[in-house]
Amino acid sequence: MNASATAPRPARDFGKVAVLMGGTSAEREISLMSGTNVLEGLLRKGVDAQAFDPADRSVFELERAGFRRVFIALHGRLGEDGTVQGALELMKIPYTGSGVMASALCMDKVRTKLVWLGSGVPTPRHVIVTAQSDWTAVAAQIGLPLIVKPAHEGSTLGLTKVESVEKIAGAYELAARYDSLVLAEEFIHGTEFTVGILDDAALPVIRIEAPQGNYDYQHKYFSDATHYHCPCGLPGAQEKELQALTLRAVAALGCRGWGRADLMLRADGKPFLLEMNTSPGMTGHSLVPMAARAAGITFDDLVVRILESAHAG
Ligand SMILES: Nc1ncnc2c1ncn2[C@@H]1O[C@H](COP(=O)(O)OP(=O)(O)O)[C@@H](O)[C@H]1O
Ligand SMILES: [Mg+2]
Repeated sequence: MNASATAPRPARDFGKVAVLMGGTSAEREISLMSGTNVLEGLLRKGVDAQAFDPADRSVFELERAGFRRVFIALHGRLGEDGTVQGALELMKIPYTGSGVMASALCMDKVRTKLVWLGSGVPTPRHVIVTAQSDWTAVAAQIGLPLIVKPAHEGSTLGLTKVESVEKIAGAYELAARYDSLVLAEEFIHGTEFTVGILDDAALPVIRIEAPQGNYDYQHKYFSDATHYHCPCGLPGAQEKELQALTLRAVAALGCRGWGRADLMLRADGKPFLLEMNTSPGMTGHSLVPMAARAAGITFDDLVVRILESAHAG
């Protein structure tokens, strides 16, 4: 048989690679889509990769099964939050993305904001809210409209834009279904952007144009009503400023390898960091692959580069 007709040889021999996908978080379905895409990309590049779902098998089986390297395509708790990263460090298996500390920190939007506030990285004003909160006082402190969101969830789950004091309690109750820690945040009127990180550098900025008032899960992931622009349409110098700010925000959190920061550019030109995603989506609608493409990096090259940046702690 002609050897060249078999699977392409990988640029580097990574050994047996596990793509962690699925898991038990609220974002399981998105993770399965991300992981399947990643797996297919790695296989096309000739990497000896296999799917591994921590909902089916303990991650501690990775070591016995002979996996040499792990691509983490899990989103949310028990995957993006430092727990799996810690388990992999105990097993000394190199893994993609941020380490234990930064993964755990970025999972918590309140603590992320505290680090940014302490580092001079602009982020919208916020207050932690509880069932005992005085909603009139919250509205007076933060202003209306405001955003109510759970501190630990992703994919806009449990997030509401609130226009009046009477609606804050209901928004709190929804967010509290997802999380015991809930924040109310100043609503930033302006334009939404997201900045992908690859090999600790910023990718081209993406501008997100969502239909008015739609901040929900369905729209973000399954609808064609949201438009993404890359190139983002900002003047070059302003795009570079957003990239530089994102790199400062990422450095303050101690993130590593790859990721994606969400931010708002207020109508007066002032940027605000919303959150940092340490294991961003890799689905057909996902934004890091879109930004990479704009930088001339194909999806398959992207997944190999992320895998190359894996570290053992
Ligand atoms: N303070 C805010 N001002 C304006 N829009 C916001 C604000 N916070 C969140 N949003 C909107 O909600 C979306 C989801 O919020 P985000 O904080 O990124 O959480 P997650 O993506 O984890 O659900 C953002 O992409 C943005 O469209
Ligand atoms: Mg977000």
